[in-house]
Amino acid sequence: MSLTTEILYGKPVSLQLRQELKNEISNLSNLGIIPGLAVVLVGEDAASQVYVRSKSRAFKKMACFSETFNLPENTSETELCLLIDELNASSKFHGILVQLPLPAHLDSKKITRRILSRKDVDGFHPLNVGLLLEGQPQFISCTPHGILKLMAYYGIKTNGKHAVIVGRSNIVGKPMFALLAEKMEYGNSTVTICHTGTVDLSRYTSMADILIVASGMPGLITGNMISEGVHIIDVGINRIKDNSEKGYRLVGDVDYESILGIAGSITPVPGGVGPLTITMLLYNTVLAAKNIRP
Ligand code: GUN
Repeated sequence: MSLTTEILYGKPVSLQLRQELKNEISNLSNLGIIPGLAVVLVGEDAASQVYVRSKSRAFKKMACFSETFNLPENTSETELCLLIDELNASSKFHGILVQLPLPAHLDSKKITRRILSRKDVDGFHPLNVGLLLEGQPQFISCTPHGILKLMAYYGIKTNGKHAVIVGRSNIVGKPMFALLAEKMEYGNSTVTICHTGTVDLSRYTSMADILIVASGMPGLITGNMISEGVHIIDVGINRIKDNSEKGYRLVGDVDYESILGIAGSITPVPGGVGPLTITMLLYNTVLAAKNIRP
């Protein structure tokens, strides 16, 4: 008999967290501080433009300040570094985010290091990565942090569970590993991290209690690769061309239809992890603004 797969929507989690943030933002506002974020977008990548617009909308809605700096595709490393130096020095901006991926001629690691670690609301600066690995995080990268909040909201326990992560990116896979392996309430998992070098992926995915998929490969995980009751977090956002008005539809890294009735729960795409990433960016920007309070 097949079970009913629970759909884990991000919106209620996000609303609850934003409610909590509103109090913090109003406390800061009473002190004359408006949390401010600078978003830097280089080039014309369509998906990045959509994400950046959503970030800006969310900040406005929450009475925070954000400004987007659109730079042309052929921006040099020197020009980008000069802008980051200006943003580092500006007291209007508590947080700085350079939207990734950057055009190929720009070194994203070098750019990430240029941002002051106290303004690195993405949590990508080596100092923040190190602090996370030490178990003393300052800024936790937004998507993994949002995933922990989502699991907490829906009562998905991680303690003692086997969490399998598919994807080893610096944005999701690696920080997710650090968080889930940490000895804390929403950690303490046994963690397996799979990637393109993994032989026989389904050998590992079928052993997961919690399966976090951030591979960037649409439909990679199918029903025959999982065990009954597994909780699946689908981080993928892939554009598939179709005949709709937009010309595409969004799908995750999990073949959604084939896991229904087998998985215990799954986050939908869109509407699962996505809304939480932006909420955690707000959270980190508020944290950065609180940190500069005299
Ligand atoms: N591109 C995809 N996700 C992210 C993110 O969390 N931060 C930045 N800066 N770029 C991204």
